[in-house]
Amino acid sequence: VVRQPVPKGRYVFIFLLFPAIFGITSAVTHYSIPEEMVAGSVVANLATDLGLDLKTLTKRRIRLDVISNRKYLDINKETGDLYIAEKIDREYLCNIKTSSCFLKMDVTVDNPERIFNIELEILDINDNAPHFRRDTMHLDISESTPVGERFSLNNAVDPDFGSNSIKTYYLTESEHFDIDIQSGRDGSKFTNLVLKKPLDREKQATHNMILTAVDGGVPARSGTASIIVRVLDVNDNAPKFDKDSYTINLTENSPIGSLVLKLNASDLDKGSNSDIVYAFSLYTSEKKQQTFSLNPENGEIRVKEIVSYEDFKIYDMEVIATDKGGNPLSGQCKLTILINDMNDNHPEISIKSFSMSSHISEDAPPGTVVALMGVTDLDSGMNGKMVFSLPKDIPFDLKPSPDGNFYSLVTKEYIDKESKSSYDITITAKDLGTPSPTFAQSPYTFYVAENNKPGNAVFSLSVVDIDEGENARVSYSIDRMNSDQGVTSFLSINEANGTVYSLRSFDFESLKTFQFFVVATDSGTPSLSSNVTVNVFILDYYSPGANTFIHCCENLNIRPKWL
Ligand SMILES: *[C@@H]1O[C@H](CO)[C@@H](O)[C@H](O)[C@H]1NC(C)=O
Ligand SMILES: *[C@@H]1O[C@H](CO)[C@@H](O)[C@H](O)[C@H]1NC(C)=O
Ligand SMILES: *[C@@H]1O[C@H](CO)[C@@H](O)[C@H](O)[C@H]1NC(C)=O
Ligand SMILES: *[C@@H]1O[C@H](CO)[C@@H](O)[C@H](O)[C@H]1NC(C)=O
Repeated sequence: VVRQPVPKGRYVFIFLLFPAIFGITSAVTHYSIPEEMVAGSVVANLATDLGLDLKTLTKRRIRLDVISNRKYLDINKETGDLYIAEKIDREYLCNIKTSSCFLKMDVTVDNPERIFNIELEILDINDNAPHFRRDTMHLDISESTPVGERFSLNNAVDPDFGSNSIKTYYLTESEHFDIDIQSGRDGSKFTNLVLKKPLDREKQATHNMILTAVDGGVPARSGTASIIVRVLDVNDNAPKFDKDSYTINLTENSPIGSLVLKLNASDLDKGSNSDIVYAFSLYTSEKKQQTFSLNPENGEIRVKEIVSYEDFKIYDMEVIATDKGGNPLSGQCKLTILINDMNDNHPEISIKSFSMSSHISEDAPPGTVVALMGVTDLDSGMNGKMVFSLPKDIPFDLKPSPDGNFYSLVTKEYIDKESKSSYDITITAKDLGTPSPTFAQSPYTFYVAENNKPGNAVFSLSVVDIDEGENARVSYSIDRMNSDQGVTSFLSINEANGTVYSLRSFDFESLKTFQFFVVATDSGTPSLSSNVTVNVFILDYYSPGANTFIHCCENLNIRPKWL
C-alpha cells in the first residue's frame, strides 16, 4: 500500500494487487479516490506503480482506455502521472444505492506491448444535502382525531451513500405533534407525524411546522420542508345567545309586523355546523306563539297580533337555537316582553246608587250622600289615575271612598228649593296620562275650487289640546301606505304645521272627489299618534264675467254649508 499526497490536502489510498493468475501481464492495480476531486489532481504515478522506466515512457506510447464513454482520467506521458481530467460525481457515475462504485481502465504500452488493468474505486463524500421533493406538505386533520393517530410524511432524499445519507429528522417544537422515525429494510429513514394532544379548531385552525432531514456526513447537511396542518371542523360547539335572558319593553297597540327584538346566537364551529335555526321551545304557549312571530333564519321577533296591556302584561318565552351540523347541538335563552301601557282607555263613571229617588229634602244636612259612583280607567299608572271636576257654582261636592274605588256625591250645604228646584250635574273624570294628538275635526272635509295654482297651499289640518314641552311637538305626515297613491302623489304636507299643498291643478271634469289619511305624531316616548280621514271635494268653477258660479258635489248628498 502506497500513500501518495495529492493537491489540496486530499489523500489517495492505493492498493496494488498482483494476482499472478495468467502470468506477468495479468495484474489489476487498484486505487481508491474520493469523488469530486478537482481536474488536474494526480491520482497515482503509473510509471512507478507499474515498474516502467520513465526514460522510455514517451517512446513506448503509454495510453489510457477508459471503459466508459467519458474520459474522466488521463496520463501525463512524460511523468507517468494518472490525473483527473474531469471531476467525477459518484452519484452520477454509479447507482446511488450500490455500496461500491468502480471505474475500470486499461493502460497500454508498446515495445513490448503490455496491458495493465486498473480499477479505480470512487468513494462517497457528503456532497449532497437531503432534500424534499415537495417543500410544503398539506395535511387535513379532523379536530376529533384521537391522540396517537399517525400521518405519513413525504421522505427526504439524499443521493449520498451510507452514513452520508439521511440519518434522522427533526420537527420544530409543537404542542400537538411529534414525529416518529422509522428505518426501512434498505436503511432508508422515513417518518410519521403523530398527534400527541387533541386538536381544537376553534382555538387554532392551522398548525405550521418545519421538518428537517439531516444526513450523517461530517459536517452534516440538511434540508427542510414545511408541514401545514389544517384542522377540520366537527360540530363540537353549541349555539350560544349573546345573553341568557332578554327583557324587552313593548308599547301596547304596536302595529303588526313591528320588530320587537333580533335575537343573535353564535356558534364557534364552521360552515353548516354554525348555521343556526331559531324556534320557540315547547314551553312557549300556543297563545304566545300566536302573538309574536319568530323568524327561524335571522332570529327576528315581531308583533303578529296587536297586544293590549289590559289583556296581558308580560309574555315569557323561551327560544332555542339549533345548528345544522350532523349531530345538531342547541342553546336557549329566555325572553320576557313587558307590555307598556298607552293611554288608550277613557275613564268610566258608573252610578252605583242614587239615593232618595233623586229627591233631596231641604233639611238634609250638609254631607248627605246623593249618589255613589264607581270609577274605572283600564289604563295603569298616570294613564289610569283620574281627577274629577264638578261645576263650580253648585252646592255639591265629591268625596272619595277610603280605597279610592268609589266616589260619593254629597251635599255641601242645606239645599234651598226656593232658589233652585233641580240640578243637572255633569261630573268630568280626566286621567293624567298623556293624550295622543287629537285632530280639530275628524273626519276633515274640504271644498277646493278647481284651477288652483299648482304648488299652492290648499288647506290646513291641526291638532288640539296638546301638552306643553317635548310631547307637544307634533309632526304631520300623509299616510301614503293606506291612501290612494294616485292622489297622494301630487299632495305634500308641511310636517310642522299641517298645511297641505297640491302640486297639481284640480280639474272638476276629471276628478270630483278624493280621500286620504293624515297622521299626527308627537315626540314623546313612546310617541303617540292619531289618524284622520280627509275628504276633498273639487268645485266646478266658471267665471264668465261678473257672476261667479260654483257648481259642486252633483251626485253627492253633501252640500257645502255656504251653498
Ligand atoms: C322597561 O320599562 C321600565 C319602566 O318604564 C324601565 O324601568 C326599564 O328600564 C325598561 N327596560 C328596558 C329594557 O328598556
Ligand atoms: C351576533 O353575535 C356575534 C358574536 O357575539 C357578533 O359577532 C355578531 O356581529 C352579532 N350579529 C348581530 C347581527 O348582532
Ligand atoms: C305653515 O308653514 C308654511 C311655511 O312656513 C307657511 O307658509 C304656512 O302659512 C303655515 N301654515 C299655517 C296654517 O300656519
Ligand atoms: C289610518 O286610518 C285608516 C282607516 O281607519 C287605516 O286604514 C290606516 O291604517 C290608519 N293609519 C295609521 C298609520 O294608523
